[in-house]
Amino acid sequence: MPLILPDWNSRATLEPLCLPWLTAAGLQVAVLRLDALDPLVSGNKWFKLAPYLAKAARDGAEGVISLGGAHSNHLHALAAAGARFGFPTVGLLRGEPQDTPTVRDLQQFGMQLHWLGYGGYRARRQPGFWDSWLVRYPHYQPVPEGGGGLMGAEGCVGLVGMIRQQLADLGWDDYHSLWTAAGTGTTLAGLVLGEAGDHPVVGALAVPPDHGVADQVSAILAEAGRADRGYRLIDASRGGFARVDAGLARFLLDSERDGGLELEPLYTAKALLAIYEEAQAGRIPSGSRLVLLHTGGLQGRRALHSEMLRLAGYTD
Ligand SMILES: Cc1ncc(COP(=O)(O)O)c(C=O)c1O
Repeated sequence: MPLILPDWNSRATLEPLCLPWLTAAGLQVAVLRLDALDPLVSGNKWFKLAPYLAKAARDGAEGVISLGGAHSNHLHALAAAGARFGFPTVGLLRGEPQDTPTVRDLQQFGMQLHWLGYGGYRARRQPGFWDSWLVRYPHYQPVPEGGGGLMGAEGCVGLVGMIRQQLADLGWDDYHSLWTAAGTGTTLAGLVLGEAGDHPVVGALAVPPDHGVADQVSAILAEAGRADRGYRLIDASRGGFARVDAGLARFLLDSERDGGLELEPLYTAKALLAIYEEAQAGRIPSGSRLVLLHTGGLQGRRALHSEMLRLAGYTD
C-alpha cells in the first residue's frame, strides 16, 4: 500500500534559558525546543525526515529504509513515525546485534532490523549500496544515514522562520547568532540556508573536526547554489564522538538542575558547553542574544544516565 504523508505541521516553542553563568556573562539564550515537539517523533530528526517522507508519498513508495547505530536518534524517529503514521520501516544497523533501549524501541515500533556488521556498514558509502536492499524491499524510499544531504537540510530551513515568529514573545527584536550541535552538518546547512546571511550560524561539532562535517556542509550549500559562508564550526566533541567526561557530566547535570531543561550528552549538552567555553574565553560579547536549537535525542540518554552520574560523582 502506498505511503500516505502525515498532515503533521509541527511547531516548536522558543523558550528563555536562565543559568547563573549566562547571567554572569551578560548573555541571553533562547532555546528552540525541538525536543518537546512530541514524545517520540521529536528533535531535528523529524525536520530532516519530512522531505524524504514527502518524496516517498509523491513517488508512491510503500515504506522507508535507512541506516544507523544501536543508539540512533534518526532510526528511532523514523521507526516512531512509521508506527504513528502507519508505514513500514526497515533499519540497517551498524555492527553486531546489540540489546539497547533504542533497539528495543525500534523492535517495538515494528521496524524490520538487519545488522550489517562493521565492514558491511562501511559499504553504505559505495555506489550501488542500496541496489540489493531495494531488490529485497522494492518500492521503499531509501534515506541516507542521519537524514543527511540537501533534502534533509531543506527540511530544517523553516526552523529559522519558527524562531523569528516567536522573538517578540521573549521581548527580543533580534538575536546575534544561532547555535546548533552538528553531527553530519545537515541541520546546520539548513539553518545557513534559512538565515541567508542574516545571522551567523555556529555549529558545535559533536564529532572531531577531521570527520568531514565541513566538507559535507560545503557540499550541501554548493548543491543548493549558495556561497559557502554564513557559519563557523567549533570543536565541541571533547576528543571524540560520544566521548563523555566528568566535566561534561557535571555541566549537564548542573545545567539541568539550574535551568530546568533536560539535556542530551552527545549533542545539546556539548553545544551548551561550547557556548559556556566561548563565553569564558571572552569570544561572546556581553549583551549578546543567542538562539540554541535543542535537537532532541533524549531517548539516547537512557543508556548513558548512570554513567553520567558516576562520572559527575553524583549518586543515583
Ligand atoms: C540529538 C541530535 N542532535 C544533533 C544532531 C546533529 O544533526 P546533524 O547530523 O544534522 O548535524 C544529531 C544527529 O546527528 C542528533 O541525534
